[in-house]
Amino acid sequence: MLPQGFIQDLVSRVDIVEVVGRHVELKKAGINHKGLCPFHGEKTPSFIVSPSRQTYHCFGCGAHGDAIRFLTEQGGLGFMDAVRELAQQVGLQVPENSASPEDRARAAQEREQRATLSELLTRASDHYRRALKASPRAIDYLKRRGLTGAIAARFGLGYAPDGWRTLASVFPRYDDPQLAECGLVIVQGEDEAEQKRYDRFRDRIMFPIRSVRGDVIGFGGRVIDQGEPKYLNSPETPVFHKGQELYGLFEARQALRERGYALVVEGYMDVVALAQSGFGNAVATLGTACTADHVAKLFRFTESVVFSFDGDAAGRRAAARALEAALPHATDLRSIRFLFLPPEHDPDSYVREHGAQAFDDAVAAAVPLSAQLLVQAAVDCDLATAEGRSRMLGQARPLIEQLPDGLLREQLMSELAQRGGVDLATLTAHWSRTGGRRDRAAAAAEPGERRPAAFRPRAMGGLRAPPQTATLLDRSAWLLARHAALWQALPADDHDLLASQPSPYGGFFAALERVCHDHGPMTMAALLDELERDAEADTLRPLLARVRGFHEFEHDEPKAEIDAVLHRLRQRAVDDELQWLIESGELSDAATERRNALLALRAELKAPTPPAETGGPRR
Ligand code: UTP
Ligand code: MN
Repeated sequence: MLPQGFIQDLVSRVDIVEVVGRHVELKKAGINHKGLCPFHGEKTPSFIVSPSRQTYHCFGCGAHGDAIRFLTEQGGLGFMDAVRELAQQVGLQVPENSASPEDRARAAQEREQRATLSELLTRASDHYRRALKASPRAIDYLKRRGLTGAIAARFGLGYAPDGWRTLASVFPRYDDPQLAECGLVIVQGEDEAEQKRYDRFRDRIMFPIRSVRGDVIGFGGRVIDQGEPKYLNSPETPVFHKGQELYGLFEARQALRERGYALVVEGYMDVVALAQSGFGNAVATLGTACTADHVAKLFRFTESVVFSFDGDAAGRRAAARALEAALPHATDLRSIRFLFLPPEHDPDSYVREHGAQAFDDAVAAAVPLSAQLLVQAAVDCDLATAEGRSRMLGQARPLIEQLPDGLLREQLMSELAQRGGVDLATLTAHWSRTGGRRDRAAAAAEPGERRPAAFRPRAMGGLRAPPQTATLLDRSAWLLARHAALWQALPADDHDLLASQPSPYGGFFAALERVCHDHGPMTMAALLDELERDAEADTLRPLLARVRGFHEFEHDEPKAEIDAVLHRLRQRAVDDELQWLIESGELSDAATERRNALLALRAELKAPTPPAETGGPRR
């Protein structure tokens, strides 16, 4: 993270006229410089750069900022890149954070490599989509499986033509090692001179797998009709980790919000067929068991998950693994349920045979996690005997120990005691005397360490700010992170207002916008985790730490408080701009007009409390 004062130091050394002058033709006008605004189309100049204040301002569109903001807005640079570029111009050394230069260089290189691989995969995906349009046989197969063109387009389905090197027509260099690295091309043979290269996917229906950001990161390819293997998947690559990715999650984001739960299924076709029947909230693991990472990822998007399994023995085994993956995430406010289809069905065949209503009914009848845990604990146990009941308790123990503390856990303990034929005190005493996994883990780790990383409270150290010292902007950051749905409901003007606040707040709100857009509403903890992963996180870290620390003071009516906070920020923005105008000494007609408008606005904003529903007058 950058030390306090570095940004101010940097901005004060930079000549903003020179920085802006590289992009905009400026003419001297009094003490300022003037030009055509690069942020909106105009024929007469209303864009003014003030060397004394080291800021620019447009009377036409309200664009406003310092040299850093100009480079990020106009030059499209990230915040840190803009800082680096300016620092280089004035010969300042950017203090890097504690990571060694080698680590940082490696991280940057890896980021770049991932971007390149994803680009190659996107290009391949475009190629497969075009090939699908040109293949009546592939189209016919999808039609026979009941899919419409619209649903195929939604999932970007494609066709890998039959041939050993069809990708050679898409990529200028077929022997580019990155084509092998992203899993599109298979290289055979150790000796470079004798190596053979060919397309991994040939004559298959292609399902592009996207990250939650929408980048193509891999493929699943299905044979048309019969053949082995039925599905071929991309290998693990720097961009594709099967144990973490869920097929269809990117496409499902909207539906997750609308339906209010995620439906986890086993196959690509299940996801696509369910979407076709109105269940756009379905996602699939990628031919692997459901992991705790999968579950953690899902809970960033929803508070409720329904796992669906085929009704056969394999389905029951998969359910057992899903239960284990879900247990650590089963806090009291979440819902986790298990849906078992009749043995002969998977979700695709079920919804096509019985229709959406029947599937909805099946979802409604899904078994809660507590019941599934009791079933699983009792597998192979004859509860009519003491031996069977004890065995059941023995099997329940490692499951119960995965549950986070909460009333669900307490209730299950009581239930188990009752079914096990012992009283609760006996069971608890016995388990604590014989130290189970939970105790061993607790001895080996910090308290709380047992919980999955995504939900572990961060060490706050001395950073926990008492409420009364929180500044207006800190408070806004906390409020909107805590109530991301309220953030999303704000009009674009307010988003702009917040994103134009000084660093690090502007960056925080811009990142909040990005993350909310990418992921939809999340819990605050998940949101802050996501923000921390964001590219600009270095500059945000101290603020994020403060925001995490605020959780003890809740407002009864967050919406009213947000309105009040925004009102204050609007007043501040008007005051700042007025101040700027007065100091700039601008006397042009445009400036005068703007000043009058601002004065009127200020009077309006000073009027007694704004109506709560609208959040008050806006610019
Ligand atoms: P299924 O065999 O249940 O296939 O595999 P499916 O999804 O019902 O496919 P259709 O309906 O026959 O087209 C479930 C999932 O297991 C993985 C895939 O992710 C598949 O969607 N799988 C299956 C493979 O990775 N390879 C295989 O050969 C088979
Ligand atoms: Mn199927």
